Amino acid sequence: MRKIVIAIDGFSACGKSSTAKEVASQLGYSYIDSGAMYRAVTLYFHQNYVNIDNSKEIVKAIEEIKISFQFNERRASSETYLNGLNVEEEIRKMYISNKVSEVSAIPEVRRNMVSQQRKLGKKKGVVMDGRDIGSNVFPDAELKIFMKADLAVRAERRQKELLEKDQLIPIPEIEENLLARDKMDSERKENPLIVPEDAYILDSSEITLPEQVEYVLQLATEKMIKYDG
Ligand code: DC
Repeated sequence: MRKIVIAIDGFSACGKSSTAKEVASQLGYSYIDSGAMYRAVTLYFHQNYVNIDNSKEIVKAIEEIKISFQFNERRASSETYLNGLNVEEEIRKMYISNKVSEVSAIPEVRRNMVSQQRKLGKKKGVVMDGRDIGSNVFPDAELKIFMKADLAVRAERRQKELLEKDQLIPIPEIEENLLARDKMDSERKENPLIVPEDAYILDSSEITLPEQVEYVLQLATEKMIKYDG
């Protein structure tokens, strides 16, 4: 069957990555976590004291950043590399989450990341999750999903994920971060988080991960049959 592009967008911590990873694995597609790319840039800026109000410094820094993904067989998961170093764990920490929306709103950063994301999806057979994948990176994606969920559910899930990495963060602090990011991601000038017109809405508040995956796989199969002609 012809390979398609599946774009999964939505608010922070709605289960986009878990759903996208599993859908990609079941279809034999590659999975690209576009948020991880913005997180890696944020880490680089932090480590190298890049002044985010100085566009010359930003442009110079971006040229020095190389982001890649490698599949970790043991964890059965794709991991993020920044200039050859595995940063998967570091980029999930709270100090990065607190800064990433600000960094991802910088036009120079977005242009560079979007261009890399388009290259990664050129051959199709890709599931990419993020905020502007269906609306901007791949406006012609054959399948667009927009995920949302209740704030309390999202915060609880994120707390559990962080606990698995030995970080105990109180729920109010997580909720505050999620709300602040939702607001910044939706209100920024360049490629804000919007619901693409032709997206299917998936509310994950009261359904399990296997149900979310099943929903997307079913739609993907329909699209593949349709686009196969
Ligand atoms: O998916 P995530 O929470 O790891 O993403 C981290 C941040 O990156 C998110 O708050 C906004 C930004 N982002 C973006 O601006 N565009 C994307 N396509 C993906 C993420």
